[in-house]
Amino acid sequence: MSIGVAVPAKNVRPIMVAKAGGFDLAVIVPTFNEADNVAKIVAGLDAALAGIRYEILFVDDWSQDGTAERIAALASGRADIRVVRRFGRRGLSSAVIEGMMATMAPVVAVIDGDGQHDERLLPRLFALVNGGAADVAIGSRYCENGSTGDWDSFRLKCSRAATKLSQLVLQAPVTDPMSGFFAVRRTKVEALLPRLSGRGFKILFDLLTSSPQPLRVVELPFRFRTRVAGDSKLGAGVAIDYAVTIADRLIRRFAPPRPVMFAAVGTLGLGVHVAVLRGMMAFDGASFARAQIMAVLVAIAFNFLFNNSLTFRDRRLTGLRMVAGLASFYLLCGIGALANVGTGVVLFSEHHRWWVSGVAGAVIGSVWNFGASALVTWRK
Ligand code: GDD
Ligand code: MN
Repeated sequence: MSIGVAVPAKNVRPIMVAKAGGFDLAVIVPTFNEADNVAKIVAGLDAALAGIRYEILFVDDWSQDGTAERIAALASGRADIRVVRRFGRRGLSSAVIEGMMATMAPVVAVIDGDGQHDERLLPRLFALVNGGAADVAIGSRYCENGSTGDWDSFRLKCSRAATKLSQLVLQAPVTDPMSGFFAVRRTKVEALLPRLSGRGFKILFDLLTSSPQPLRVVELPFRFRTRVAGDSKLGAGVAIDYAVTIADRLIRRFAPPRPVMFAAVGTLGLGVHVAVLRGMMAFDGASFARAQIMAVLVAIAFNFLFNNSLTFRDRRLTGLRMVAGLASFYLLCGIGALANVGTGVVLFSEHHRWWVSGVAGAVIGSVWNFGASALVTWRK
């Protein structure tokens, strides 16, 4: 009998047999001050997930109530309980993302750390994703047989309104796109990572609205339980952040093409021009020439600001670059005005039709302003 080391034959790469970690499911539990809840969560998951190879991955944002210490005690002697501790950072979404990136399990699930989600649903959520029937399986409070439990009517109204609003930007109807309880294939999340905002509470919503192809979603009902210990962290900041996200997605989806947006801003700018002109002449008693110059300067600045945040929002200038951008925009619009007047004068001297000459001059000037500012002011 000889004992030797197996040496792979030349040019044959050794095959990795075991999957890293060997877990089929990672349950991510974000926690912020949940010391009195974590033991129950672990017990609930252990009971619900018997028969599945799972790990429990807490992501704790430096809780000051001893949450991490309690988790450490629960994890002692167990390789399937871990805690990622983050310092100097806060946020449910980003905590969940970092948890997902800290595991090699092919399916990841998220569950609140306060016991409000019904962990007994997890095996079915896992099976749907693991078996390929869904990209994302969601525990829903709003689909048939789901329930928000004993929420007061104010919270219920807010949540309903937020959910309604979300349907505006979702590719396919989902009854509970803000649920914090779902399972997803890890590679799906990885593919979408660069598009996720990572801000606020709405990680699931972020995933659903960031995917170029609609994700295949299945929802299963559950009853949202009442929080027994600790406090909710959902406050006004989370709500404002959500509103900003919806607006952002709406603009991204329905924004007209650049030239149309530029023309629309220009039309508004004309209104600003007239308002300043009238205002200065009426209230300031300024001469027409002075008022007109002021109106031009204000209108161009207005156009610059709106084009900067709408038409060219993907190339938005900030700080000092904004000052330089405004200067170049003034210059280009000045040249545009010369082109406008020049064209008009030449045409008028040849055809003597004032309105054709005037409109042609304006069109040439506008096209110049758009093209030149796209190439110079907001160059890529
Ligand atoms: N790591 C980390 N960092 N965890 C956090 C943070 C944070 O900044 N903020 C909240 N959490 C954890 C909590 O400790 C809890 O385990 C879970 O995230 C949910 O937070 P709650 O504060 O209990 O939220 P909720 O019950 O009001 O909101 C639930 O419903 C929302 C929609 O109505 C959650 O399920 C949300 O995910 C969901 O969007
Ligand atoms: Mn909660």
